[in-house]
Amino acid sequence: MNVRSPVITVDGPGGVGKGTLCQWLATQLGWPLLDSGALYRLTALAALRRNLILNDEPGIAPVAAGLAVAFTPGDDGALQVVLDGEDVSTVIRRETMGNAASQVAALPAVRAALLQRQRDFRQPPGLIADGRDMGTVVFPDAELKLFLTADADERAQRRYKQLIEKGMDANLGDLVKEIAERDARDAQRAIAPLKAAADAEVLDTTRLSIADVCQWALTLAQQRLAVRVIP
Ligand code: DC
Repeated sequence: MNVRSPVITVDGPGGVGKGTLCQWLATQLGWPLLDSGALYRLTALAALRRNLILNDEPGIAPVAAGLAVAFTPGDDGALQVVLDGEDVSTVIRRETMGNAASQVAALPAVRAALLQRQRDFRQPPGLIADGRDMGTVVFPDAELKLFLTADADERAQRRYKQLIEKGMDANLGDLVKEIAERDARDAQRAIAPLKAAADAEVLDTTRLSIADVCQWALTLAQQRLAVRVIP
């Protein structure tokens, strides 16, 4: 790990707006982005394609370790995710894949298999790291740790809007249930559970706009890291 490269970690539950904030920060600062949730989603997809059951820890850990994945910036600025040569950017965004990701993410050997791959993203000039355990486990020495929260109903609404905007199927009632199920699994698992690091800056975004959240994060980044915004 290059300890001189700064990291800003952004953790929080599903649907809270981490992805939007991280993409914005990455653009503003000109830093790459680690979407760690995508690695768990890809592991789940690769496991399902090999007909593995999602709690098959010895079967799935080598799949996680051997993921042949590439992240490339797409035309819209969002990351394009390519697995084994196939663009799976849309497939992995399905809510069912989020749920499957949450199941494989509870397996300690899977988390261990993905740990160094995530740390390798830490390169100059700096990294924006989006996930659940970025500030607690993957980058415990991060220069700035952010943790976003929002009421579960509000997060379900945000996810719904996001999926519809992407032209994907979504049902608000199902999303409310899936978000509650995922929150419980991610927060209660024995290893690297979803929680704010002791030194994280925590923001309840329930009644805030995306612009408010972005401004809060950028102000902290400018104070802590003396970062410059790309003109
Ligand atoms: O952020 P996301 O919705 O793409 O994440 C999908 C699942 O992956 C999430 O429910 C839990 C798991 N995950 C994790 O355990 N640790 C991370 N750092 C990121 C995601």
